[in-house]
Amino acid sequence: MVKLTGYKKIKSAVFISGTGSNLKSLIKFSKTRKSPISINLIISNNPRAKGLKLGKINNIKKKVFDFKKNHKTENQIISVLKEHKIDMICLAGFMTILSKNFITKFRGKILNIHPSLLPKYKGLNTHQRALNNNEKYSGCTVHFVNSKLDSGKIILQKKVKISKNETKGSLAKKVLVQEHKLYPKAILKVFNL
Ligand code: GAR
Repeated sequence: MVKLTGYKKIKSAVFISGTGSNLKSLIKFSKTRKSPISINLIISNNPRAKGLKLGKINNIKKKVFDFKKNHKTENQIISVLKEHKIDMICLAGFMTILSKNFITKFRGKILNIHPSLLPKYKGLNTHQRALNNNEKYSGCTVHFVNSKLDSGKIILQKKVKISKNETKGSLAKKVLVQEHKLYPKAILKVFNL
């Protein structure tokens, strides 16, 4: 568990690949008094990620890295994280797998949000797979990141009922609304707040 020292907020980085709606909700949360974290850095593997715009709007530094050049890039990222005194990482729609080495360096300090009720539907295309299996419920999970995909310790989950005429798009929207509430709650829980 991450420990809070004094009244200073824990400096955090959010990693994104796309729209950044979870990033938006995390920024909003981070600005509240009750938030134990501040967001000081946005990192993306995708230069066209829409969410990068939120950096400018909110005056948060952003950096894009080519994660395919794995080892070298990760060392650069680690340097940037150190430079900004980042002590917590929130993956929010980040669609690239981090190396074991990177995860070990930040053990217990990387969180991820996943659009399913883990351990069900790890990986991609979660909503369609839930529908194909005629699930009655789906949902979202915030968990710690370990070296196995979507398998770290679960912090919080939220169930969502699947309706009769649900499509993967409508389900994604419904789940996303819950994701925006769940991620801040999970962060409070990590800090025992
Ligand atoms: C969210 O539904 C998130 O749970 C999912 O991508 C979406 C990103 O939306 N993440 C994954 O599938 C990770 N494997 P956002 O960019 O609007 O936050």
